[in-house]
Amino acid sequence: MSGLRILLSEAEIAARVEALAGEIARTIPGDFVMVGLLKGAAVFVADLARALDRAGARPEIEFMRLSSYGLATVSSGEVRLLGDIPDHIEGRRVLLIDDIVDTGRSIAFAAGLLCERKIGELWTCALLDKPQRREVEAPIDFVGFRIEDHFVAGYGIDHAEKYRHLPYIGIVE
Ligand code: IMP
Ligand code: MG
Repeated sequence: MSGLRILLSEAEIAARVEALAGEIARTIPGDFVMVGLLKGAAVFVADLARALDRAGARPEIEFMRLSSYGLATVSSGEVRLLGDIPDHIEGRRVLLIDDIVDTGRSIAFAAGLLCERKIGELWTCALLDKPQRREVEAPIDFVGFRIEDHFVAGYGIDHAEKYRHLPYIGIVE
């Protein structure tokens, strides 16, 4: 046993990812680049990309790496860029993807960097949204699930690097 209390099962996540891909494919016109935030969004991006293919979209895939919480369960409030995307992003439509939007700092920071690079148009997507915890404004165009203020892990999301491999999402007790 993992020690997590299940919040979202593998089947619930799969159904929501499929529906989200349909919404995204209907909303974003033509070609676009998925920009996932490592490491948390890697599993979500992998599933969403294949669901987007089934929905008729043909996205490219890139990743950016931001500094993380480390061993803590609360954000330090400081975000740094640890790994960047290639520079041929100018003029492109971008779908920025994170696992969870909590204070909003990470996705707002990444969105700011992308806008400095003069991308064509930006949409944001998060598998999980914890709106109660928001500290900075961060509009999310596509949300998988809105959840209460729990610390969760699984499906790419970690607690001190554990649980990323789990196919479901659970609450860390
Ligand atoms: P924010 O910058 O405060 O919005 O935090 C976003 C990032 O913090 C996410 O990309 C996650 O990596 C991490 N995070 C936020 N909430 C949780 C959680 O409940 N479990 C694990 N990581 C989390
Ligand atoms: Mg993250």
